Amino acid sequence: MPESQAINQKAVKIVIVGAGSVGVTTAYALLLSGLVTEIVLIDIDAARAEGEAVDLSHAAHFAQTHARVRAATSYADCADAAIVILTAGVNQKPGQTRLDLVRTNHALFASVVPQVAAAAPDTILLVATNPVDVLTHAALELSGFPPERVIGSGTAMDTTRFRHELGRHYGVNPRNVHAVIIGEHGDSQLPVWSLASIAGMRLRDYCAQKGVAYDEAAMDGVAARTRGAAYEIIQRKGKTNYGVASVLTSIVEQIVKSSDAIVTVSRVGEYEGVGPVALSMPCKLNHTGSHMDVPLLLSDKEREGLKRSAGEIRGVIESIREG
Ligand SMILES: NC(=O)c1ccc[n+]([C@@H]2O[C@H](COP(=O)([O-])OP(=O)(O)OC[C@H]3O[C@@H](n4cnc5c(N)ncnc54)[C@H](O)[C@@H]3O)[C@@H](O)[C@H]2O)c1
Repeated sequence: MPESQAINQKAVKIVIVGAGSVGVTTAYALLLSGLVTEIVLIDIDAARAEGEAVDLSHAAHFAQTHARVRAATSYADCADAAIVILTAGVNQKPGQTRLDLVRTNHALFASVVPQVAAAAPDTILLVATNPVDVLTHAALELSGFPPERVIGSGTAMDTTRFRHELGRHYGVNPRNVHAVIIGEHGDSQLPVWSLASIAGMRLRDYCAQKGVAYDEAAMDGVAARTRGAAYEIIQRKGKTNYGVASVLTSIVEQIVKSSDAIVTVSRVGEYEGVGPVALSMPCKLNHTGSHMDVPLLLSDKEREGLKRSAGEIRGVIESIREG
């Protein structure tokens, strides 16, 4: 039996809190993915959630497998959800950093997360709202869930952009580039150059085999474009939605299929002696959540960078506490 049929034999309910741009694009991607049997949209703007749900339910007609889409006005409707995706909140305006959003979105989480946790004590929380690392930490504290069940989309998006940029530079399919961005989903993120590889060869070895020089300046450009991609997109269209929706759908897929795939997602832990703090490292995803079984082998410089990134996020967490 095809794997997709096996999955769809059991009910998979996903709740999306926030029926804005990220929330509904994710709902649409999930609907077409055939991974879920029910999608529930919750938004403070109940009319908007209702309108989006009706529109999506018409699109459901064309999906490969049927899924029910509906809006709800109460968090009680999170009951039995496999995953609750949190996308509610204000987004970046041109020129704003993700950390600029922190107070508004933290207050929103303080009101929403306890209600979700009460209605769905066994669910997995998947946080997309920015600043995603600070809010993943907040969601853990506000829910009382174990760390493996509170996942931030983190640098999964940045890792995708990094591989895209490296693939373009080296003229290979990004799927064959193994490289990750770790740390903050934000300005202090860091590319792990020491482990980046193509066709099983570290980048410097790949270049040597190819007979070309390893171009340090070009690699700096790749890292800068990766870090700045969201700013560039927001400058032009005011938001980002398709990339993040695809990343969220992929994370849902790994959890629902219990695939043990390794993805750079954010989770709370202690990193380089700093913690508790949420940041992204390669984690194994399955039906019980995210797991960081094996510490990443980093160079001393990268460990320093990770410590700096953890310190920056931790600083924001402490500044919220101080009011
Ligand atoms: N993690 C990522 O990679 C990533 C990428 C893009 C955007 N984001 C973040 O996702 C969030 C949403 O972005 P967007 O573009 O969808 O914004 P949006 O303005 O389009 O949607 C936000 C939605 O949240 C709703 N909302 C506000 N307060 C609420 C509450 N208390 N309860 C329920 N719903 C509430 C609003 O009514 C709105 O529909 C932002 O914080 C943005 O920065 C994250």
